[in-house]
Amino acid sequence: MSSDPITEAARRRTFAIISHPDAGKTTLTEMLLLAGGAIHLAGAVRARGEQRRTRSDWMKIERERGISVSASVMTFGSGDTVFNLLDTPGHEDFSEDTYRTLTAADSAIMVLDAAKGIEPQTLKLFEVCRLRDIPITTFINKMDREALDPFALLDEIHNRLALDPAPLYWPAGSGQRFRGMLDLRTDEFLPFTRPEAGEEENAESERIAFGGNSISDAMSADLLAELKEGAELARMGLPAFDREAFLGGHMTPVYFGSALRRFGVRELLAGIAADAPAPKVGGTKEVSGFVFKIQANMDPKHRDRVGFFRVSSGRFERGMTLKTATGKSINVHNPMMFLAQDREIADEAFPGDIIGIPNRGALRVGDSLSESGSVAYQGLPNFAPEILMRCRVRDPLKQKHLRRALEALADEGISQVFRPLIGADMIVGAVGALQFDVLKERIAEEYQLDVVFESSPYDSARWVAGEKKDLEALVERYRPQMAQDVEDALVFLGKSAWEIGYVQEKSAGVRFSAVKER
Ligand code: G4P
Repeated sequence: MSSDPITEAARRRTFAIISHPDAGKTTLTEMLLLAGGAIHLAGAVRARGEQRRTRSDWMKIERERGISVSASVMTFGSGDTVFNLLDTPGHEDFSEDTYRTLTAADSAIMVLDAAKGIEPQTLKLFEVCRLRDIPITTFINKMDREALDPFALLDEIHNRLALDPAPLYWPAGSGQRFRGMLDLRTDEFLPFTRPEAGEEENAESERIAFGGNSISDAMSADLLAELKEGAELARMGLPAFDREAFLGGHMTPVYFGSALRRFGVRELLAGIAADAPAPKVGGTKEVSGFVFKIQANMDPKHRDRVGFFRVSSGRFERGMTLKTATGKSINVHNPMMFLAQDREIADEAFPGDIIGIPNRGALRVGDSLSESGSVAYQGLPNFAPEILMRCRVRDPLKQKHLRRALEALADEGISQVFRPLIGADMIVGAVGALQFDVLKERIAEEYQLDVVFESSPYDSARWVAGEKKDLEALVERYRPQMAQDVEDALVFLGKSAWEIGYVQEKSAGVRFSAVKER
């Protein structure tokens, strides 16, 4: 096997799955691992139980220790392709981490529930992908259930996401009437068979030539006519798949299927291998990359932290010393690699790979690392928090300690802290509600401070930038709502989306931003 970073990068696909809770992300992940041969059916069922248990264990730890600890990366191979699937926590543990993980992905699969279409969390995550122009592959899941009309689903993608949907398959019916799908490029039909209880689900079904005789055995004459008409309309009315447009973030190839019934998953995985982008190899030959996530206490017995480092260039080897752009050195003795069910020591890694670097606080979210220490990647963005709470410490003499604790935790990137220009309160922002429980417990345990979070009048924050005189005018007018973040950047705390819009309109020359690029 080659160890040339360019060749190795070309066969890697580093991607994430974005979806609204319940659309089927967990099921699809499992079926992708199965399709990729990373787990086996018997193992999968067991793994599922284990995964559940692990997840809830981690949840408990998350509650006790305050960290997002779901399996963050899964690496598996299929054919000549190496897939790195990044987990974007989406349920109770939805947090800024979820957004930031997307900065380490080269593409994303957007899973839609065929009966529901685009839902709020899909939209939020999509917007983060759009910020970076990450190409999106769409998987319309749960076709074995009563679904919306496929044209309505594609219209929704077009109208709400401003993406051109290019269906690669066309479904025949849905729910009880679901019979399979037509490959629009080869004109072959993939039959869906509803498995009997206990039977292996859709292990491998034969493709049927659409023009041939056996196609009429696969479905009723009515459904066949419907499929022909639908496919015809889709071919005429919708753009054909254009890889360049997909890579540019303007078009999304659309797959249909049922993750639960393992139908359409192999096609999706093959599509990712064929069309999704390989990592762009950085301009330098040396090993470089960035830390996009810190997971504390993966092993609760030790006070450890693991930095998730995405390699961007070079060939990483175990034992290397990497330096941050600020000059800190870290010797990577025990880099972790994350397989479907195991963690292993990584002996080497290539662009697109993610390795876990155990450390005791030397690494921060957003750090660039390289052999020379001279590579600096654009910092990871901060996203405007969606929940803002006032934080108070019960012992008023501990105010300074509180500030230090909150700022240290903000460094980990799961919460943000704002100091209003007036008063002694600290305002803490997060993307998910769970983060506040987690913070309270961590502050108690790690800093011995008893804090309370109380609701604040604020709904969201915007970073502001502009000419000095315009900013001064803004501060003059809205001083009680102005604050600074940990890096002393100026922030406007808004009471509602409407108010933010209003103040924005009244403040000529000031840019309001929901994302802080660094
Ligand atoms: P999530 O991670 O996006 O939240 O979704 P998850 O995979 O947990 O799936 C949510 C529910 O939808 C699960 O049912 C799952 O079995 C079901 N599901 C996923 N894909 C399909 C599909 O293609 N067809 C059908 N019919 N159902 C699907 P549940 O009852 O909540 O959980 P479970 O007890 O069945 O595991």
